[in-house]
Amino acid sequence: MKPLLVTLFLFLFFQAHSVWAQTGDPEAGERHYRGKFCYFCHGDNGEGGFGPDLAGGRGLTLDQFRRAIREPWGVMGNYTEQQLPDDRIVDIYAFVKSKTPVQAPGEWHWAKAPSSAHEGQQIYMQTAGCGQCHEPENGYGRMWLGEYAKNVDFDYFAKQIYDHTDKWPSGGMPNFSRERLPEAALREVYQWMVLDIGLRASMGARMSYGELEDDQITVNVQVRNRGIKELGLDVSGITLFIKVPDGRTVTGGTGTGYMGVQPLTTLGLEPRLRMAPHSHDDTGHVERPEQDLSGDVVVWKIPKMIAASTEELSFVLSGPAPTSEMANEFAGSTLHWENPGRNANGSPPIMVYRDLRLPDTGDHELVSLPTATFNELGISSENEIESTD
Ligand code: HEC
Ligand code: HEC
Repeated sequence: MKPLLVTLFLFLFFQAHSVWAQTGDPEAGERHYRGKFCYFCHGDNGEGGFGPDLAGGRGLTLDQFRRAIREPWGVMGNYTEQQLPDDRIVDIYAFVKSKTPVQAPGEWHWAKAPSSAHEGQQIYMQTAGCGQCHEPENGYGRMWLGEYAKNVDFDYFAKQIYDHTDKWPSGGMPNFSRERLPEAALREVYQWMVLDIGLRASMGARMSYGELEDDQITVNVQVRNRGIKELGLDVSGITLFIKVPDGRTVTGGTGTGYMGVQPLTTLGLEPRLRMAPHSHDDTGHVERPEQDLSGDVVVWKIPKMIAASTEELSFVLSGPAPTSEMANEFAGSTLHWENPGRNANGSPPIMVYRDLRLPDTGDHELVSLPTATFNELGISSENEIESTD
């Protein structure tokens, strides 16, 4: 083909495929808007919050809208093409355009940190808006850092913020700009988040159904320290408790530190809260709701789990034939550990504004409920189990 023809051909090809020629799909747009957490800053329906209201489109053209996402004007992070492709921006634009503009922008998703909070936490909440996605203490960000704990100096940390998509190419967090969020400000965040409160261990426990016989079912629990070998945090003083569903008894258990059954009230530990309670004013104050401590729990106490280790535990439940609701009756089962807890590095915690899901001492996570269906176990397909997780 002659060069001119090739050029013309390519031109027509790109014309036909140009996303800008398409009209977006507002329903798909809503999914991407939620999936990429835009709503934490711009409101469920584009009513605004930490970020400006977008409902009605703010009078922006599609090109201006896209530019604001690829090369934001202010502190908002920028999203790469791989994280958020152009055609999805077209859909998000259609979604916000379909919403009625608001008179006044909405409330922040998470309230400001009070002026008595550590400078680093104020920058994290007020200046950069990290806390709109990560909540007051960045429980999960500190956990992902904890998997590589021995590598986490300021440079490693800064890379996760400025070049975030190197590790998470299609992740939910955008790359922040060094100009808009200068290193000096990020050092304050590092001091507060990584040095003062400390990194979290990356621990998880997952339940699954094992063998089913007459009126007995074996439940397996895998506990993992997801830290990277020789880099992640080692964990000690582990207590796992699993709620015993009403009307069932535990006839035995296996694995390191199996302690049998006891009433939850005698254990001295609380289930982890599923959702973090929000504060709606600038004091940051909020009460931790009362926990339900009724019923019995199966308990294991494991002295230590080093990074990249696994424990396989199990117990046997007897009682009436299992139903699809049984999985939900385990909800609230919790994996607790003493060390590292909040403030792992021993400096005083400056926590006027905190995530109330995390306990005062030690740390904990909810146990993932079984997701298998009884169908897979060879029982009637009506009894499908749905995880609430
Ligand atoms: C951490 C909070 C935060 C998140 C998350 C966020 N934004 Fe923003 N957004 C802002 C702020 C603050 C501004 C104001 C300009 C700036 O600071 O860059 C803004 C500005 C914008 C603008 C430009 C508005 C104007 O009038 O020019 C658009 C468009 C936009 N955001 C879209 C999005 C989309 C789409 C997403 C999700 C993919 C998103 N934002 C995620 C905080 C956020
Ligand atoms: C739009 C929501 C959002 C905002 C805003 C946000 N993050 Fe994140 N962050 C995430 C998500 C989601 C992940 C998990 C990885 C992914 O999907 O990108 C993450 C991961 C992290 C990690 C772990 C990285 C690793 O693998 O070691 C750290 C640390 C972190 N964020 C800190 C911050 C800080 C500090 C800010 C503010 C400057 C911030 N984040 C702003 C959503 C967000």
